Amino acid sequence: MKVLVEKDYDSMSRRAAEIFIEEIRKKPDIILGLATGSTPIGTYKELINEYNKGNLDFSKVKSFNLDEYIGLDGSHPNSYRYFMDDNLFNHINIDKNNTFVPSGIAEDLENHCKEYDKMIDEAGGIDIQVLGIGENGHIAFNEPDEKLSNGTFVVNLTEETIMANSRFFDNNEEVPKKAISMGIGSILKAKKIVLLASGRKKANVIKELLGNDFITTKLPASFLLLHQDVTIIVDEEAYGKLD
Ligand code: F6R
Repeated sequence: MKVLVEKDYDSMSRRAAEIFIEEIRKKPDIILGLATGSTPIGTYKELINEYNKGNLDFSKVKSFNLDEYIGLDGSHPNSYRYFMDDNLFNHINIDKNNTFVPSGIAEDLENHCKEYDKMIDEAGGIDIQVLGIGENGHIAFNEPDEKLSNGTFVVNLTEETIMANSRFFDNNEEVPKKAISMGIGSILKAKKIVLLASGRKKANVIKELLGNDFITTKLPASFLLLHQDVTIIVDEEAYGKLD
């Protein structure tokens, strides 16, 4: 695992964007694995800037997102589809038909999970995946538990995650309690993984992840130790407890 420590959120975002820009230029029909949440927003802004300068072409790019809330359709402002349109897709020349986010309103969710993994495989697999990390060590919505899902699955969100997500909703009642999420195995199939963490709130989990050399379902991000090509980019605050 390669660890890069950047001064602050902006330089972490630039560093991550540089990696993505290089990969997209190398392979114009690249398959991106994308995340929502606060952390990658700066990276997406950098990609948009580069596109606006005329230096980046997304016309052949495909993307698959990690997760979606169950019960929200793509027009809901808190859905992850809406988030992606708003923070990235609406501002670049990607064909929206080539952008995939799990459906939170699929009639047969179990079948949709299987189909989602199949679609990723049939597209050729994710070339580069961006990840955030939860304060509890989750990646996508693989929450700490006795066992973790290999493939895409339906998940009951933990109280901790529901609380963390509530900052985006008007009241706690509205926060979805379930989500559809790529599994640990689906994530580990990506050829390259870039995990981002910023701010003091992430310092404990980053210390746990980087300060140890074991894999445990209680820290889902620890499974990244099994992957050959992971870059972790943190800012100084998130790295703080390792000093
Ligand atoms: C988002 C996702 C989550 C977030 C994580 C960190 O698609 O899968 O695992 O990456 O909860 O969220 P932020 O970036 O808001 O701290």
